[in-house]
Amino acid sequence: MQDDAMPNAYRPGAVELPPEEQAMIERRRRLLGPAYRLMYQHPVHIVRGDGVWLYDQSGKAYMDVYNNVASVGHCHPRVARAIADQVQVLATNTRYLHDTILGYAERLLATFPDALGHLMFTCTGSEANDLALRAAKAYTGGQGIIVTECAYHGITQAIAEISPSLGPNVDLGAHVRTVPAPDLYRSRNGEVADQLRRDVEAALADLKRHGIKPAAFICDGVFSSDGVFTEPAGFLAGAVEAVRAAGALYIADEVQSGFGRTGSHLWGFQRHGLVPDIVTLGKPMGNGYPVAGVVVKPSIIAEFGSSARYFNTFGGNTVATTAAMAVLEVIQDEALMDNALKVGAYLADGLRELMSEYQVIGDVRHAGLFFGVEIVGDRQSKRPDASLTAKLVDGLRERQVLISATGPRANVLKIRPPLVFTRDNADFFIAQLRAVLAAQPGA
Ligand SMILES: Cc1ncc(COP(=O)(O)O)c(C=O)c1O
Repeated sequence: MQDDAMPNAYRPGAVELPPEEQAMIERRRRLLGPAYRLMYQHPVHIVRGDGVWLYDQSGKAYMDVYNNVASVGHCHPRVARAIADQVQVLATNTRYLHDTILGYAERLLATFPDALGHLMFTCTGSEANDLALRAAKAYTGGQGIIVTECAYHGITQAIAEISPSLGPNVDLGAHVRTVPAPDLYRSRNGEVADQLRRDVEAALADLKRHGIKPAAFICDGVFSSDGVFTEPAGFLAGAVEAVRAAGALYIADEVQSGFGRTGSHLWGFQRHGLVPDIVTLGKPMGNGYPVAGVVVKPSIIAEFGSSARYFNTFGGNTVATTAAMAVLEVIQDEALMDNALKVGAYLADGLRELMSEYQVIGDVRHAGLFFGVEIVGDRQSKRPDASLTAKLVDGLRERQVLISATGPRANVLKIRPPLVFTRDNADFFIAQLRAVLAAQPGA
């Protein structure tokens, strides 16, 4: 059975593939087992990356409009060189004194509100969220966690239990409550902030009724797996107030929204005028090198940190922190936030122009270079059209543009190109999307 609700997952046999690709897929299944998923009905075999482009084994170029790991561009020369240089000098762990980890911590923490004073390193976003939950549970003495209905926070035992987007075959913990995401497009009265606050209060009340003390509300800064919700900035404030009034913490998962993607701010939570208790980082932090982390208020980690030793063999190793430092320098030196803001606005204009041509585009929303484009059967009823969304994703893939879909109804195009995306790249993307839309009967 493969009912894990992953939009854009490859389904064997959906399209006929060349024998050598079929053989590679079969070899992969035999060696890696059944848990992995490929993307696209015609999976892509990539061998090289450069900036916003990926290249397959025949040298064909694909525009990557989806990858927010290689956020400063695939194989950015400055990051690649920093990693290569460091790995030849020293690759070891945080149990030795080393300058780079301190220099990086100083530089990164300077980008956060003063209250967030410590940085701890992990290798993945899942580990960062896992550590954040441990800290929150220890600090509050609670167990209850509130997440959005289609949240994704990662893969460890504790984090899979708070990741409803993994689908019906992965159980949520008995201590977990879900709230609808703040969906302005489908909201009846446009009051997403009040609604979210009420939903969070109801979740807190339900935890209490079941004798579960709340520990934290954790959410993704752009609600990427819920369908990408960015507006109106500030909508989180009331919900966070309710969480704190109940003695729980607000954990900002910045794995998707961090490191400048939203353009106006380095961190997604800043759009909401909030200071989280804990922030978790990942994906773009090392531009592909595994490095992730937790930024936390010192008071929250004080007791947990002194009573429970923390060591992560690879987390914060000298190569990881060198990679992370190079990424942060590139974001700042190449003014990539400003680029995300400007090219994001330009791409939004292009998408809205397409919306005026094609009825099936129900909504275009974005913050900087993170977009959700809602595909609907008709604008009046807002009926989600997952099947058309899948055709658009696969149609773009055939035109060598890589995006994907998201949301509980699998009908939102998720677009998040590397932050080095240019206006020319945006024009090219819009032209390809227009061509794919034009080929859909009734679009
Ligand atoms: C919002 C969010 N949090 C956490 C994670 C987990 O990160 P990782 O895959 O590095 O464990 C992801 C991964 O997609 C994510 O999107």
